[in-house]
Amino acid sequence: MKYLITGGAGFIGSHLVSNIIDSAEKIIVIDNLITGNMSNIDEFKKNKNFEFVKHDIQYHFDPKENIDYVIHLASCASPVAYSENPINTLKSGSIGTINALGIARKYNSKFLLTSTSEVYGDPKESPQSESYWGNVNPVGPRSMYDESKRFAEAATQAYITEYSVNASIVRIFNTYGPNMQLDDGRVVTNFIVQALGNEDITIYGNGQQTRSFSYIEDTVSGLLKALYYKKPDIFNIGNDNEITILELAKIILKLTNSKSKIVNNPLPKDDPMQRRPDLTKSQSILGYKTQIDLEEGLVKTINWVKQTRG
Ligand SMILES: NC(=O)c1ccc[n+]([C@@H]2O[C@H](COP(=O)([O-])OP(=O)(O)OC[C@H]3O[C@@H](n4cnc5c(N)ncnc54)[C@H](O)[C@@H]3O)[C@@H](O)[C@H]2O)c1
Repeated sequence: MKYLITGGAGFIGSHLVSNIIDSAEKIIVIDNLITGNMSNIDEFKKNKNFEFVKHDIQYHFDPKENIDYVIHLASCASPVAYSENPINTLKSGSIGTINALGIARKYNSKFLLTSTSEVYGDPKESPQSESYWGNVNPVGPRSMYDESKRFAEAATQAYITEYSVNASIVRIFNTYGPNMQLDDGRVVTNFIVQALGNEDITIYGNGQQTRSFSYIEDTVSGLLKALYYKKPDIFNIGNDNEITILELAKIILKLTNSKSKIVNNPLPKDDPMQRRPDLTKSQSILGYKTQIDLEEGLVKTINWVKQTRG
């Protein structure tokens, strides 16, 4: 099978490549490296079935060969990256998604859109099921990301309806693990880096906001199940173990034996207060099941951060 992966040099993309490289006939990664890193995919370059193309999916791309699966990950994904690159983020989610869908249409490929739990915004119901429409501020500080993904979902739905493209939409909930950027403001790596350096752990607000963290291997297994699912559909993928940010900080302090103190910073505008996926649909239709609990995943991530920073 031949795969085209946009954004494949990033955190999730590099793990996807690692999972399928041995069985794939060919993998083409296209990435503009705005937040991705060649070091994430260097190890794959020796494989003759792996090709890297430096390209921005905002511009037309034609692989000029049959592609069985198009996986569209390309987008800034962290608050730091999308706030610094708002137009780029909006164009990746809109024009970039249309371009990626165009490839799937031309080559009759199965298409996977990696959307996000951010489409639910600051949710008014919990857990969030796929049928919930969300509560998003269209002009708020996170809007370039949330709305680009909402557009991407609408575009995917339109290609399903008008062109019969076989596409799945996956709404990924907070995922963490090796190959994340250490300085992009995502909470797990932030806390680990602060704890290992015995620096203050900075919590936004009182830390009572909740998140549900999924280890990368579980998220990737869900993405692949949705990719190989035969029909167009939409799935939450993540872990439904919901904890407060304060609890997360305390667990990381314990696992790192850190002397860091917890300090409170102001809560950013529109920061969601609650995040927990309803996984009923992905469990019953895809047979999705998480395997790695939070402490186990955090230990693996802490060890990787230690190795990376030397
Ligand atoms: N990690 C998470 O917790 C999470 C949660 C929800 C959704 N997602 C989605 O999963 C996808 C991957 O996220 P990630 O965490 O691996 O982030 P990442 O920043 O590590 O990876 C994104 C990749 O896309 C590339 N990219 C961005 N814009 C591009 C463009 N216009 N053309 C080509 N390449 C481009 C970047 O260089 C990077 O390699 C994103 O679409 C993100 O929105 C991630």
